[in-house]
Amino acid sequence: MRGYQLVSSSSAVYQAESARISQGVVESNHVGYTGTGFVNYDNIIGSYVEFTVDAEAATIATAAFRYSNGTTTNRPMDISVNGTVVSAGKAFNPTTDWDTWATTSVGISLKAGTNTIRATATTSNGGPNLDKLTLG
Ligand code: GCU
Ligand code: CA
Ligand code: CA
Repeated sequence: MRGYQLVSSSSAVYQAESARISQGVVESNHVGYTGTGFVNYDNIIGSYVEFTVDAEAATIATAAFRYSNGTTTNRPMDISVNGTVVSAGKAFNPTTDWDTWATTSVGISLKAGTNTIRATATTSNGGPNLDKLTLG
């Protein structure tokens, strides 16, 4: 037993295209995404995707971000939970092309109730294309 349970635990998958998006657009013009598309971050510092997650009790979790980066350059992002950066400049390294997806994870703490998990681009290249967040 993990000792915790996420509310709506039938699915701990949070699609980026359903999240709160600041300076990015939902697209589906590359293959291999899940759900109905992905978020194409605007290629600027500060563009972000914010997920709202409910937890029935305070817990630790692994936040896994599935993304694509078809360039040859890292697209780092700050990962914040409830407004606090928990992973600064987390690497979203190249995936060869925009049709290839990878997952990178960070350990987080959630409080009981509503939490926000935000991934914010920290360079002028913007973030990668973001498919989904999985909490486990
Ligand atoms: C291409 C690609 C986009 C991507 C963009 C970028 O335009 O088709 O999906 O977001 O490059 O460099 O960010
Ligand atoms: Ca982009
Ligand atoms: Ca998706």
